[in-house]
Amino acid sequence: MATVRLRPIATSDAELCFHWVTDPDVARHLGLTQPPRTIRDEQAWISSVLADPDHLRMFVIEDESARPIGTSTLRGIEPEEGFAFFGILIGEKALWDHGYGTAATLATLAFAFQHLGLREVRLSCYSQNQRALRCYEKAGFQRVTQHWSWVPEGGADLRMSITRERWEEMQQSSAS
Ligand SMILES: CC(C)(COP(=O)(O)OP(=O)(O)OC[C@H]1O[C@@H](n2cnc3c(N)ncnc32)[C@H](O)[C@@H]1OP(=O)(O)O)[C@@H](O)C(=O)NCCC(=O)NCCS
Repeated sequence: MATVRLRPIATSDAELCFHWVTDPDVARHLGLTQPPRTIRDEQAWISSVLADPDHLRMFVIEDESARPIGTSTLRGIEPEEGFAFFGILIGEKALWDHGYGTAATLATLAFAFQHLGLREVRLSCYSQNQRALRCYEKAGFQRVTQHWSWVPEGGADLRMSITRERWEEMQQSSAS
C-alpha cells in the first residue's frame, strides 16, 4: 500500500510545480483559470498561498523515499463555516494508479479534520476524470450534485463532499 508524507509547500518548490502543472496530461483535468506561464508566476502563486494560511494550505506530497510527487491543496478555508475545497495532483505520471492519490487525499483530510477542525471538505471534478473520481470515492467522498456547465471535452462538473463524521467512521472501520 502506498504511503505518503505531506509537507508545507515552499517557494523553492516552484520549478517542480511549474513542470507538473504545465504537463498537458496533468493539466488536462485541473481547470486552471490562470495557468502559470513562467516559474516566477508559480513562485508568486506559492508566495500568495504562504501569505494566507487562514484560507489556503498547500502541501507537497512525498513518497516513501521522500521524493516529491505532487501537491494537495485546501483552499477557500472557512473556519467559521467549517469547510474547505480540496484539490490534488500527482505530477509524476508514472506513479498514477499506485494508490498515492488516495493516500494523499486521506492525509489531507486528516489535516483538515484533525488539525484545522473543519466539519466538511468539498471538491469539484470533471465527470470524464474517472481516475480522480475513483480516487476520491476510495477516500470517502460522495457525490453531491452534477452541474452541466461547460467543461473541457464535454461532460459535467461533479461536486463531491465528505463530512468529518463520515471520515471518522471510515477511520474506525479501517482500524477494526
Ligand atoms: C487524479 C489523481 C490525483 C489520482 O491519483 P492516483 O495516484 O492515480 O490515484 P490512486 O492510484 O489512488 O487511485 C486511482 C484509481 O482510479 C482507477 N482508474 C484509473 N483509470 C481509470 C478509469 N479510466 N476509469 C475508472 N477508474 C480508473 C485506478 O485503477 C485506481 O483505482 P483502484 O485502486 O480501485 O484500482 C492523479 O491521477 C492525478 O494527479 N491526475 C492529474 C491531475 C488531476 O486530474 N487532478 C484531479 C483534478 S479533479
